[in-house]
Parts: sequence; structure tokens; C-alpha cells
Amino acid sequence: MNETLVILDFGSQVTQLIARRAREHNVYSVILPYHVTLEKIRSYRPMGLILSGSPANVYGPKAPLPDEGIFSLGIPILGICYGLQLIAHVFGGRVHKSKKREYGFAELSVRAPGALFAGMPRKLTCWMSHGDKLDKLPAGFKSLAVTPNSPVAAVAHEKNKVYGVQFHPEVAHTPLGAKLIANFLFRICGFKGSWTSESFIQESIRKIRSQVGQERVVLGLSGGVDSSVAGLLLHKAIGKQLTCIYVDNGLMRLHETERIKATFKDHFHMNIKFVDASKDFLKALKGVSDPEQKRKIIGRVFVETFDREAKKLGKVPFLAQGTLYPDVIESVSVHGGPTSVIKSHHNVGGLPKGMKFKLVEPLRELFKDEVRSVGTALGLKEELVNRHPFPGPGLGVRILGEITKERADILREADDIAIEEIRKAGLYSQIWQAFVVLLPVNSVGVMGDERTYENVAAVRAVTSTDGMTADWARIPDDVLARISNRIINEVRGINRVCYDISSKPPATIEWE
Ligand code: XMP
Repeated sequence: MNETLVILDFGSQVTQLIARRAREHNVYSVILPYHVTLEKIRSYRPMGLILSGSPANVYGPKAPLPDEGIFSLGIPILGICYGLQLIAHVFGGRVHKSKKREYGFAELSVRAPGALFAGMPRKLTCWMSHGDKLDKLPAGFKSLAVTPNSPVAAVAHEKNKVYGVQFHPEVAHTPLGAKLIANFLFRICGFKGSWTSESFIQESIRKIRSQVGQERVVLGLSGGVDSSVAGLLLHKAIGKQLTCIYVDNGLMRLHETERIKATFKDHFHMNIKFVDASKDFLKALKGVSDPEQKRKIIGRVFVETFDREAKKLGKVPFLAQGTLYPDVIESVSVHGGPTSVIKSHHNVGGLPKGMKFKLVEPLRELFKDEVRSVGTALGLKEELVNRHPFPGPGLGVRILGEITKERADILREADDIAIEEIRKAGLYSQIWQAFVVLLPVNSVGVMGDERTYENVAAVRAVTSTDGMTADWARIPDDVLARISNRIINEVRGINRVCYDISSKPPATIEWE
């Protein structure tokens, strides 16, 4: 079993960042809702515990409170913001509503570094976001640091190894926050920091083999990062027991099928069934312009196709999916009462209804950037590992209005040119997602001496960290000019190119 850090989530917006900071130090971490049982926490055999922030007040009637047995587990604990206030509350300190809220940057003065601030400067910038503060220390605790507005900004009970900080070391706005977390993990908890892509791969191979035995597994390989890495990992673990099904829905990017063949069949020698179902998809989509209807049709035909092809394989009890950790973390809602909601994951072509598969989800412990590192460690080319996200319905939601093969072909070519120019300009990795949209309007143009009346394409490129919010990418105008010139000159059927300058919100990344 990996050395594990348990993070109890009290509903902070940034709890996931704590897990990521720990993992960046090669420490495996899991996030559990604050109300889990002590047995559940113990089952991870954690070497340390971090208590997250929360929008709640610790003295309020609906305060989210954990099982107090966590303080008797005999492992080091670090409370962050609400976590610190919770520690103070439990051990008899005093937390009350502060006159001034402290929000944003603050200068922290470290008075007693101890192990938590070891090797760090005496003055550092930290990020605060709290309305309550601690003004009486609980017995046995000492104050380690102050800010102008927080007389107790960090505390320690060194003998019991219980620590708390009022600021947020997990956010990038606390520049030395990662160092503080490292001090907690290595100096205080004694982690070795041995959780790496390689160790993950070895452990996963062992787990996959023990779950699957001699049975067969089927995987829907789309060419996206998640299904590609899941496929490679399974292939490494069980070789030919894995069959991948790649469905060409006629709405893939230019040369996509050839690329997938070259990588997974020719290079990695994986067992892949290529299914050209483009005619079925286009037939089902004929005459449909409504975006939600398109999505439903594409989803339905995918499931029917996958189902049919999987049945042809004979007895296959397992279905593998590239589910990731953010899809399985139970989210905590504090304001709506201490309820927890399990986010439903929306893997395209998820478990086909009526098919009795057992699931294999080798990536369900990983964040997206960790999936990319594992992909690299498994030998996946940079080009595939760092690919922009591509929606399940593919070009179907980028051809506005009715979808036809001709329109899909036009869009494929235009999209490929835009991506090629963005790559050539060295901008691809700075952009979250870039693509071309084919609009359902024609515009007048002139080519040579001839009047044209052809399609309009829009180039969309956004920067983002998670796809939830996004800004339009400031692509230099010479690059935009090259994209536009090449599309209009090289793609028959497009005579005008626009650049989308909308942010999300209020727009979305995709046009449909
Ligand atoms: P929006 O357009 O909602 O997109 O701002 C956010 C992210 O989600 C992707 N997206 C989809 N992915 N099926 C998917 O698998 C879909 O129906 C779908 N719609 C949008 C989009 O490409 C972006 O990365």
C-alpha cells in the first residue's frame, strides 16, 4: 500500500489543490468528506491528516465537525484556515467573528519556525481568506506566526504534532506554500515521497492483473489522453486480453484514424478493432440541427455500435474506462447542509445500458496532469499526451446547423490548418483548446474575378485551467493572418474566417 495522506474536506473551493500539492511532492493523497467514519480513515493507514478550509463557521449550529477520534489517531495533523479554527475549537481555544475580514495577500511574520517553517524566511507573503479568527490559544499550543490582522496565524502543539495555519499554503498566491506543505509531509509526518509515475504504473499493473485474472477486457479507445493512457496501462498489464474498440463516427479530426492506427496498432501492437460507423452516424443525424438532439443521437449511435462490436468479441466480462479522480471525489456541500453529492461522471460512451460489464478504471486515482505524466512514462508521444481536449460528439457540435459529410470534410481541413499554424507558432501548449467552427451562414466573397458565396468559419482558441472558465487566447495577429489566408486559399468552400473573442462565461468554449 502507498504511504497515504488523508485530506478531510470541509467544503473549501480549493481542497483539491491540497491533494495536488502533496502529489507534486510524490506523496499519494486522498480527499474524503469530513463526515466519514474513523474506520474509513483508518483503512487508508494514513501517515498524516490535513483538515481543509470551509465556508462555514466553526461555532455555528451547522458547523461541519469530524469524528473527534481523528485527534487520537496518533498521526500528525495540519489544519488549514477553517481546519486551524476547528483544532482551536476542539482543544478549548477561542474563535470568533473578526471585525475586519482578512482577504487577499498578507505579510506573515514567523516568530517560532519549528519544523513547520524550517528553512523558510522569517517574513513571507501568504494568502488569507477568512472572516473568523483565533484569539485565544488552546492549552499546550504555541503561536508560530502573525499577520497584521491575525495575532495567531499559525499554531503548533509540537508534542502531539498538531499544527494549524490561518492562511492557505495550497494556493499559488502563497509563494512558499509548497515548501510549508513539504515540511509538514517530510519533516513532521515522515513521508518518503516515493509515489511516482513509475511506482503508480507498477502498482496499477499488479492491481489490474489481480482484478482481471485471465478474463478479457474491452475498452472504447477514442484517441483522447484518458482512454489512450488507460489503454496503454491495461495493455502493459494484460497484453492481448485487452481489446480496444475505436469507433470512427465520421466526426473525427483529419487523419485521426490513421494516427491512432500508427500509434496503438503499429507502434504499441495493441489489439484494436477499427469500426467505421460514419455512415450510421451521418444517417441518424440527417436533418438534425438542434445541438442537444445531435449530442443525444451521437451518444445513442455510439452505444449501439460499441454494444454490437463488443458482443462480436464473445465472452468479455470487463469494460475499462478512463475515469479520473475529479470525477469520483465526493463533493461536500456545507451551505446546503452537511450533505454529500457524488458527481456523476460523463464519460462519453460510458457503460452501455443493459450490458453487464464489471468496470476496470485504472486512472480513477489520478488528476489530469498525472495522467499525462503516466502517459509519458508509458512511452506515449508528447503530441498525444498534451493534446487539447476534444468533445465526445466531436465535430458534431462544431458544425452548426445540419451535419453532412461534405461539411465535416470542409471543417476537418480548416481545423487541421489552424492547429498546424498554432503549433508552428509555438502556441499550442499555452492554449487550453483551439479549433475551428463551421457556421451555418454563407457570405459573399471575390476570388480572382469571380464572385463566391461560401461558408464562414470561426477560429476559437481559449486559455483556461480547467475548462470551467476561459478567456479567448491573444493569438498574435500575424498567426491569425496565416490561419485565415491558408484556410481561405486551401479549403474549398470557405471564403471568410472570423476569430471568436468571447470569454466563458458568458459564452461557452464550444459553440453548441
Ligand atoms: P463548454 O462548451 O461547455 O465546454 O464551455 C467545456 C469543455 O467541455 C467540452 N465539451 C464536451 N465534452 N461531451 C464531451 O465529452 C460534450 O458533449 C461536450 N461539450 C463540451 C469542451 O470541448 C470543453 O473542453
